Amino acid sequence: MTRTRSNATVTATVPAARPADPPAAHSPAVDVPAVDPPAVGSGDPPAAQAAVLAVRDVRIRDDVNDREIVHGVSFELRPGRAVGIVGESGSGKTLTCRAILGILPAHFAVAGGSIEIAGRDIARLTTPQWTDLRGSTISAVFQDPASYLNPSLKVGVQIAEVIQVKSGLRRRDARRRALELLTAVHLRDPELVYDQYTYELSGGMLQRVLIATAIAADPQVLIADEATTALDVTVQAEILDLLADLRERRGLALVVVSHDLAVVAQVCDEVLVMRAGEVVEHGATADVLYHPRHEYTRLLIAEHEQYGLDRYLADTDTDTGAGGGGEQRKELDGVR
Ligand SMILES: Nc1ncnc2c1ncn2[C@@H]1O[C@H](COP(=O)(O)OP(=O)(O)O)[C@@H](O)[C@H]1O
Ligand SMILES: [Mg+2]
Repeated sequence: MTRTRSNATVTATVPAARPADPPAAHSPAVDVPAVDPPAVGSGDPPAAQAAVLAVRDVRIRDDVNDREIVHGVSFELRPGRAVGIVGESGSGKTLTCRAILGILPAHFAVAGGSIEIAGRDIARLTTPQWTDLRGSTISAVFQDPASYLNPSLKVGVQIAEVIQVKSGLRRRDARRRALELLTAVHLRDPELVYDQYTYELSGGMLQRVLIATAIAADPQVLIADEATTALDVTVQAEILDLLADLRERRGLALVVVSHDLAVVAQVCDEVLVMRAGEVVEHGATADVLYHPRHEYTRLLIAEHEQYGLDRYLADTDTDTGAGGGGEQRKELDGVR
């Protein structure tokens, strides 16, 4: 689905409600790595920092069909941490994300629990307060980056517009900042990409552009909902590497959503396993992966084993960093 927008604002990364995602194609698993202790925040006692996102027993109802779809999701996310939500298609992952972003489809509503973003209960936010919060505190990227960009505008111009709106920078400064962001998302030739249109870019490059747009106003939380699902396995690994990098360098807190356990395993400290609107298991990623308690989690893991995880170990153990690599990463230091 391609949506044309007359201008790109930060809402480009927070789409209007639309029908449920199509069932995701089964991408082959990347590896389920030996889980290292998280690099970020590991020096701090976990409770020392306030949560940037607190989701407490959130229930989501479909008012038209008069049924509860999501039956109580809870987690807390502190700066620089990453939580994964995994589960088969239709389990309620995207609705949970949309509830957090305040963009549930028309007849869905949060029917219980609470959501706090940076200490603010979202149920109390006015529309202008939401506009202010989206992009600058919480942002999101989804599966089909092309549909959130305007095909008739150069991608760099669209990022610059977001920066102008959100940061009030003048055109020239916004362009400079957009170029910094394109570098930050490991695009090899930012000047070239700035002047390109969506049809000239690959899926992986478009997702990098979307991530650049999403982090343009320096949010504290980024939700990546199936953001790598449509990408081939090498590009998927590169985008996950990019997310981990943004987390380390900017203290960005991540919610990584995927039907693929290996994706969340690569980036997340903590994982929630959802099935049919229920959280069946929630714990440290290593615990859930290596000591799954719930039968459904065991099934998900077995599914990955079937795909032959070893094949992908080489890809994910080495730095595949398309256009990334050490040199470009150093330049990240110049970006807020
Ligand atoms: N816009 C919508 N209209 C009707 N039903 C929807 C809509 N969005 C989601 N649903 C239903 O809600 C359930 C959860 O969907 P979703 O959160 O998109 O699942 P997931 O992201 O885990 O694949 C599914 O049964 C789906 O059919
Ligand atoms: Mg989904």
